[in-house]
Amino acid sequence: MTKTILTGLRPTGNLHLGHYFGAAHNWVKLQNDYDFYLEIADVQALTDNFDNPDKVRKNVYEITLDLLSIGINPEKVNLFIQSKIPEIAELTVFFSNLVTVSRLQRNPTVKNEIAQKKELFGNNGESITYGFLGYPVSQAADITAFDGEIIPVGDDQLPLLEQCREIVRKFNSIYGDTFKEPEQVLSESTRIKGLDGNEKMGKSLGNAIYLVDDEETIKKKVMGAITDPNKIKKDDPANPEVCMVYYYHKLVNSGENIKTVCSECKNGTRGCVQCKRELIDKLNEFLNPIREKRKYYEEQPELVQKILDDGTNKAKERAKEQMEKVRKAMKIDY
Ligand code: TRP
Repeated sequence: MTKTILTGLRPTGNLHLGHYFGAAHNWVKLQNDYDFYLEIADVQALTDNFDNPDKVRKNVYEITLDLLSIGINPEKVNLFIQSKIPEIAELTVFFSNLVTVSRLQRNPTVKNEIAQKKELFGNNGESITYGFLGYPVSQAADITAFDGEIIPVGDDQLPLLEQCREIVRKFNSIYGDTFKEPEQVLSESTRIKGLDGNEKMGKSLGNAIYLVDDEETIKKKVMGAITDPNKIKKDDPANPEVCMVYYYHKLVNSGENIKTVCSECKNGTRGCVQCKRELIDKLNEFLNPIREKRKYYEEQPELVQKILDDGTNKAKERAKEQMEKVRKAMKIDY
């Protein structure tokens, strides 16, 4: 039997290189060998954007285009919208009995996010909403509603997976074996640093390169990237390991070229401006096919709508069957 993959993303902004190299490129590889459900988690996005429904609505479409443009094949992947599957919300309610509030408060991912959202949730998280605190429960329902076995995500999601596994074990021990315990796959994914050298690339950090960035934007961003601060003159030898331009060469340039960039930088035979220009070319080479695919789908909004409808219908069928099992196990199958 083909194993099921389930993964998701919040529609709060366009995909950037951090999403791509951190997780999404891996999805494109995995799509050939699994039964693949890819969720656009609009309900989860609303947990911290409940006051901005326009943003979430717009980004459902943007994220769909981003995913199709990197090569997610709608023939192979069921791309669906979370809010169109009310079974997930129903399962979330049942799961919420199996999790303590203190366990949710101790979840490292949730803790981090609360700390980052002081404006919304207060300095010490005192204004945290019930919905946000509980989103790991809803994420456990996202996974188990489809009996997701393999969950390819970035490493920041590990604590959410662990929480899901705990819920599954608790459910199975009380109501009988119903769900599979999901596993995380992190293979071939790396966390990508921002242009400013920050450990994380992110929209809120203003250090991201987006898949939708045009040539002009790429040029501006790369020209402003952080290089070795000890290199003052063009022919000073420098340390590529502290340079963000070298870091991005390693992502999008070829092996031989990367070696040359590295040795020339160390020997002082490579100026930063030249090095940045070469990176801009390589980034555009990498982005051009993505831009073309995006344009193809952008010009056919009815095709994009059909892809979402078909994916959502398939996801709905699977979740419906799963919920019948759940209601029976819980003795609420009236
Ligand atoms: N929490 C994930 C993120 O912020 C998105 C997500 C929603 C997800 N549901 C999921 C990931 C289910 C994996 C499985 O990126």
